[in-house]
This record gives sequence, C-alpha cells and structure tokens, in this order.
Amino acid sequence: MMPLMTVPAAVIVDAAAYAQAVEDAVSAAAAYYTGGSSHLDDDAYDRLVRGIAAWEAEHPDGIRPDSPTGKVAGGAVEGDVPHTVPMLSLDNVFSSEEFTAWTASLARRTGRDVTRFGVGPKLDGLAVAARYRDGRLTRLITRGDGTAGEDVSHAIGTVQGLPESLAEPVTVEVRGEVLMTTAQFEHANEVRTAHGGQPFANPRNAAAGTLRAKERSYTVPMTFFGYGLLPLPDTDAALAADLTELAHSDLMSMAAGLGVHTSARTAVPDVVVETPEQVVARVQEIAAVRAELPFGIDGVVVKADLAADQRAAGSGSRAPRWAVAYKLPAVEKITRLLEVEWNVGRTGIIAPRAVLEPVVIDGSTITYATLHNPADITRRGLRLGDHVMVHRAGDVIPRIEAPVAHLRTGDEQPIAFPERCPRCGSGIDTSEERWRCAQGRNCHLVASLAYAAGRDQLDIEGLGATRVVQLVESGLVADLADLFALRREQLLSLERMGETSTDNLLAAIAKAKEQPLSRVLCALGVRGTGRSMSRRIARHFATMENIRAADADAMQRVEGIGSEKAPSIVAEIAELAPLIDRLAAAGVNMTEPGATPPPAADAVPDADGTSAGPAADGPLAGMTVVVTGAMTGILEKLTRNQMNELIERAGGRSSSSVSKKTTLVVAGEGAGSKRAKAEQLGIRLSTPDEFATLVAGLVG
Ligand code: IVH
Repeated sequence: MMPLMTVPAAVIVDAAAYAQAVEDAVSAAAAYYTGGSSHLDDDAYDRLVRGIAAWEAEHPDGIRPDSPTGKVAGGAVEGDVPHTVPMLSLDNVFSSEEFTAWTASLARRTGRDVTRFGVGPKLDGLAVAARYRDGRLTRLITRGDGTAGEDVSHAIGTVQGLPESLAEPVTVEVRGEVLMTTAQFEHANEVRTAHGGQPFANPRNAAAGTLRAKERSYTVPMTFFGYGLLPLPDTDAALAADLTELAHSDLMSMAAGLGVHTSARTAVPDVVVETPEQVVARVQEIAAVRAELPFGIDGVVVKADLAADQRAAGSGSRAPRWAVAYKLPAVEKITRLLEVEWNVGRTGIIAPRAVLEPVVIDGSTITYATLHNPADITRRGLRLGDHVMVHRAGDVIPRIEAPVAHLRTGDEQPIAFPERCPRCGSGIDTSEERWRCAQGRNCHLVASLAYAAGRDQLDIEGLGATRVVQLVESGLVADLADLFALRREQLLSLERMGETSTDNLLAAIAKAKEQPLSRVLCALGVRGTGRSMSRRIARHFATMENIRAADADAMQRVEGIGSEKAPSIVAEIAELAPLIDRLAAAGVNMTEPGATPPPAADAVPDADGTSAGPAADGPLAGMTVVVTGAMTGILEKLTRNQMNELIERAGGRSSSSVSKKTTLVVAGEGAGSKRAKAEQLGIRLSTPDEFATLVAGLVG
C-alpha cells in the first residue's frame, strides 16, 4: 500500500531556532483558529510542529512553556465559557504505516483488538459545542483552549444544519464542525469584498472569521456537521446513561434523528468497518472523491466506535487515544504571484493567467493558476509579488484563492490590465466581465478554425493547425464559411499540397457539411457554449432556423441555460447571422437528426427552470449516464464527446460528474474516482461491452 503522504519535520538546529519556531507556530495557530491570515499553510505548520516535537524529544529540559506541542489549538487561543467535558484535538497520522502503528497502540491500551472502527471525513472547519435545553438551541461555544471556549451565540441562525429547535425537547450538547461549503465561501467573499473587505484566504479561514465576527453589517451562511453528542449536567438521567453507553455510530443516528446535519447525507458518510485494512481502503475511497466534494476535508477521522473501547483507551490532555486523524495531502499552499499573462482564446476572450513561483501541491509542480477575469483580479485585490494561497484538488486547474495580505512588504505592484488586444492590437470590448478583443473570433482565427475543424466539431481530417495557418496566411480563408468555398486549384497552389492531399481535404470538407447541427453550432464557437451545451441547444430547437428565432425566454428553456447566459447566447447568434447564412448557402446541414422542435410558446418551464422537452425514447430513456475510464471493444475509438452523443441518441442524458441523480456509470479501464463514487452511492456500473449491448444498433 502506498502511503498517502509523509510530512517531513522542519529541521531545528539550535535553541534559538527552536524559540523562533515556537513563536512562529503559536502565531500561525492563533490566526488559524480566529480567522486571521496566517503566514504558514497547513503543510508548513504541520512540518514546523513536527520539528518542534523532534527538538523537544532531544532536549526535554529546554521545552518552552508556550510550546504548541501537547496543547489544544497549539495553546494559541483562550475562552471564557467552561466546557463540561474537555473539547480535545486529534493526533495525526500521515501514512498507512503510521496508522498501523496507531492501531497497535490502541490494542495495547484496550487490551484487545478493536473490531469496530468509525471512519468519516475530517471536516475542514472549526469545532463548536451547541447546547440545547429542552430542545432549544441556547448557546454556541468555540473550542477555545479545550477547557473553555468563546461564546459565539450571535451566530445562531446563520449556521445551516444546526436547527434552533430539535425534533425532541431534550437537553444535550451537540459537537461538530462549522465550515463554509465552496459555494458559501464564494458567496461570502463576494459579499465581503462588496463591503470593502479583503477576501478570506480559504473556506476555513472564512468560517473562523465569520463565526467570531460580532458587528458585521451583513450575515453570510455557514454549514454545521455534527460529530458528537453528549449529556449536559441537567440532562435527564436515563438519556444521560444512553449517551454515555451508545456506540459513536448510534449517537450519530440519534443526532440525525433530532434534526442535526451530519455526514450521513453526503457522498462520504461515516461508516463502521471491522479491520485496519478496511479503514485504509475507506481512506483511499474518501481521498478519491475529495476533489468533487462541495466542502473541504483535510483528512479522515478514525474512531473506536464502541463506548467500552473508548473508555478503555482513554484520553490524554490534548487528544483522545481512541481516535486519530488520518491526514490527506494538503491541497493549498502559499506561493508568490510573479506575473499575469493575458492570452486570447479562440472566441476572442482575453483571459488572465497567473504565473507563480513554482510550488508542489499534492505531488505536482504548479506554475500557473487561473484568474477568471479583470473584475475578479480587482475584487481579490491581487498585486504582483503578492504571496497568494493556491488551491489545487484533483485534476481541476489550480486557482488563486486570495492574497496573504499581511505578508506584504510594500514592494508589490499593481497588475496592469491591457488597453489593446495583446494579440492583434485592436480595441477591447469590456462591457462584460470577461473582456474580449473587438475582432472577436477573427482575432485568433487560426485557433477558432482549428477548433471548428477538430474531431469533436466538424471533424475535417487533414485540417490540423499547421494547415490552418497556411490557409489563413495565404489569404484563402478569413472565416469558417471560406473553408467551404475553397477550390481545387487554390489548394494546389499552396506549398506541400499535392493532388492527393488536396482531393482528400476537399472530400473531408464536403463530408463536414453533413455533420449534425449540434456540431455545426459548436464549431461556430458561441461563447459559453461548449460541446454538451451545443448538443442540448440543437436537440431542443432541432433546426438552426428555430435557434435563430429564439428570444432569451425561449433560450432559457434549454436545460442548463440561465437568465444570465440566455441573452448573451441570443445576441451572439444574431451577430453570427451573416456567417450562418453563408454556411447554409454552401450546403452545410442546419438540422439535428432525430430531434423534434419544441411546441411554440406553450413549453412552460418546469419548477427547476428546465423544460422536460418531448419525452425521449430509446434504450436509455430517462437515464443519466456518466462515462469514465478508457473504452474498449466497439467503443474503443469513440471520443468522450462521441460517447456522450451516443448516450443522447439513445434517449439518455450525458453528464460528466457522478451524483445521486446518476443512473448508470460506464466504467472502462483505469476508471478512478468516478467509479469509486458510483460504488459508494450504489449506482449501477457497466463495462464498455455491457453498455455497447445496451445501445446496440446505435453505435457508429
Ligand atoms: S471527532 C475528541 N470527527 O478535527 C475529539 N473531529 O484536528 C473528537 N474534526 O477537534 C473529534 N471532523 O474539530 C471528529 N468527523 C470528525 C471531525 C473532527 C473534523 C475536527 C475537530 C477536532 C479536530 C482535530
């Protein structure tokens, strides 16, 4: 089994370095628990504390009283509301070897092998205790130093999943984590920057700052996940006895029954397993779906599930001995923003990209990160030379979360926005958040034509980027329609174009005229519409004529097109009218085979804003299908786009992510996290061959 990660300790050479390390760690911990901005990312903090612990093991007489080791919250925070039972921290393990060693020490303490382990996500927020009296939420307290916390009852009402009254009038304390989901974090930063504040560096920091903030002119929602349920001094004796005797998993079912949000309804519910091997397998499963979770986790918590085992193992002053945090690799690191590049895409969008001082996150060296648009840069208050928190999870393109404002030296420089198109020097259309060259898709004509000719669009064989450059530079082609007007002798006049390649290219161009409307539409490169959106539009309207006749209301009836996108798509189709006319005149197909146009105005959208459209038939009718891994057999040559087209031809919906709504996952060789998620959600899986049988007759 591969270790998931190992965190090397920082090397401390002498007492002075040790003193400095303690000071750094305490100030980072204070920022971590109070929502301030820290100069250390989690990985760097863990390394520093390990280094401090290593030095202290060698120099037991030199341990400083303010050392973070052995203390809850690194000893950096205090509180004034006493906890009835200490709120402890957790020890960490970083690899399966360290985990095995932990289970051995657990067995030594309990005097027997533990055979019931609870395994669940380690939620990346902050711990709170919620006191309920007779079923009503009366007080919310942070963990503080573990013995006493801070009263944050003012936040009651802003934390989803922590109901103000329970399903039964019981007196209990619910413990758990308050965090911001990714969506809540983005919302919080929008609201905060709109009020002139600095954006929070990450969701955890945002939750900590928001929970403690007393006098803000706005409130932003957060989410609670319960992971503990215990009696209070005046809890009814019978209930108190239950709460001390029940297994952790039963307590969590009880909490959920009372109306408290737990991990149960997420893609990573807490489960009970019997062996350390099963624990490690579950850790790998959770790690595999981590990038797709709508909230942050920084590890997996493993607990002895039975109350008797917990009692036998006992607790230390900082952490229980019956639970441990199996840390997952950090997904965030701090690095520096060196430069911002402005690249023009195939539709003429001028997109900024951050050039970073290279940083290794979860095994990959990251040098670039997306910066969505100029407004986004302004909102985040980024400057060149800033230290920035960079986030990278799974295969998603890395992004900058926020500048680490207090690491500024004063030498940071403003980011210059281009005044002319960096590619062709034309003016810039800044009317939308995403800036665009005034020449639109003609600015980067080579990219736009190469995309149109690509395999998933018009699929014109022999028309790669080099040939496109040649056609554009020779002046033969100035837009997509010109391709269809090319004559034999024109092509023959080009360098490296013999008779055979000319005839092949002309035949490929002629064949492209028969592509379905969805591909023609995609080839046009309407902003905000990729392959799957183009298919949905084409299937919905059936003909180009219907698409062109659609106003924003009609466009919104297409699944996935909201009130913001609809008008811009309509405007862009209108802008493309002359080009579309010329394509149609050249004989390019403008209909979608098998699609029926929507009934005129009476197609009322459903409550969720989508319209059901004509009931699809076919072997996959009513099914939502996700394809993952490499296809084999007769599906081997199909691109992912062609697989999705096939699914839709068979009456199904294609999707790229697995959720509760998914009905079938076609998992080929090398399928990873999507397959794991499907297994976990109990979604039907099929091999490429089984799937081919299901859609027999429609392939090809
Ligand atoms: S159980 C006695 N379960 O991680 C402590 N803690 O680094 C038992 N945390 O203080 C805690 N997710 O704030 C538990 N599923 C989970 C958790 C979890 C996050 C936090 C908690 C704890 C910290 C330790």
